[in-house]
Amino acid sequence: MTQTTKTQVGIIGGGPSGLLLSQLLHLQGIETVVLERQSRKYVLARVRAGVLEHGFANLMREARCSERMEKEGEIHHGFYIYDQQAGKQRVDLHKYSGDNSVIVYGQTELTRDLYEAREKMGGIVIHNAEDVKPHDLTSVSPFLTYRKGEDVHRIDCDFIIGADGFHGVSRKSIPKDILKEYEKLYPFGWLGVLSRTKPVSPELIYARTERGFALCSMRSQVLSRYYIQVPLSDTEEGWSDDAFWDELKQRIPADDAARLITGPSIEKSIAPLRSFVAEPMRYGNLFLAGDAAHIVPPTGARGLNSAASDIYYLYSALVEHYKKGSSKGLENYSARALARVWKAQRFSWWMTMLLHRFPEMPGYDRRLQDIELAYLFSSDAAMSALAENYTGLPF
Ligand code: APR
Ligand code: PHB
Repeated sequence: MTQTTKTQVGIIGGGPSGLLLSQLLHLQGIETVVLERQSRKYVLARVRAGVLEHGFANLMREARCSERMEKEGEIHHGFYIYDQQAGKQRVDLHKYSGDNSVIVYGQTELTRDLYEAREKMGGIVIHNAEDVKPHDLTSVSPFLTYRKGEDVHRIDCDFIIGADGFHGVSRKSIPKDILKEYEKLYPFGWLGVLSRTKPVSPELIYARTERGFALCSMRSQVLSRYYIQVPLSDTEEGWSDDAFWDELKQRIPADDAARLITGPSIEKSIAPLRSFVAEPMRYGNLFLAGDAAHIVPPTGARGLNSAASDIYYLYSALVEHYKKGSSKGLENYSARALARVWKAQRFSWWMTMLLHRFPEMPGYDRRLQDIELAYLFSSDAAMSALAENYTGLPF
């Protein structure tokens, strides 16, 4: 027997996108229900990136769940780019972005803060929701169904938000003749290691070497995150911790390698690099947000920040709908979100093309990478473009 309930906004996906929207709408008195396929423990066990644009940090403040981010997050005014020939050079974000900066704060911690804020406000987040399906998307009364064990549940709503990530059900619910997908796959992945060690550098180091790309990042002063570029055929099992540390040392500046504190990996995984965009981000009363509609390679640290700008546009449009009865924001949502999504796509592609070693890379392309870096560190205009994109383009 199907149990039916009603809400205003039904959200598929309890990741950062779905939770942030649910929290922001609740503060405006707009009801939501979040359906998450996995358990809370599973969602919080995922290790993802952790560089927040200033626009995102402001959204967390507006969502009244920025306390821990402010206390434990690190404000970074710059980062380093290391090139084997050109050496280690600092990108002064603060100077070149008009005094902006980023906050280094893990996505896992941010998601935990959102869960706690939902709980504190009595927000409805249903975990282990199986077979979530959106229905009647082009009608004025779409609804969601899901199963909990034997019980089937139905949720009537005004709008459905597809915040269910790349492998979710939402994007697949848009007819093929309507949905256009753009994809670029890169011929390598990132092997990431998380370790309870002191970070090698107070700011991030992006490294470009003959052996491939590397990144030194952190979650805190006692939790480090490192990545090296590896062939897609590699496996985590194929990389012992020692082999990882030895390879990393060969891809970072010698003085950093000498100072590097190594330790057992508490998480180790390989992520393939891809650029992906689905258009449009609206189908009837279904609105896609975050990874459900777009994916970037992590080189530009845009994934989470791109999701946040979707949520900003959707939140404003839904408040405009419920508070002012205007559907202008909802009508413009897809175009507005995609305009900023593609800029994040361009920046992430540019950082990836600049800093990675492509197999069989023609000499001319290799020289172009050299020149692109040399131009970057010789031109205030180029540096300002980098800093503006890295700290966050205006919403
Ligand atoms: N039913 C219910 N929940 C689902 C379904 C489904 N059919 N499919 C997926 N989900 C859940 C996933 O379990 C996940 O918790 O949707 C959530 C989507 O969360 P994310 O993948 O984190 O996507 P998003 O919230 O948009 O966050 C984007 O995540 O991957 C990073 O780099 C990315 O930083 C970006 C951020
Ligand atoms: C991370 O800290 O995991 C991280 C930081 C910057 C990136 C990608 C990942 O560009």
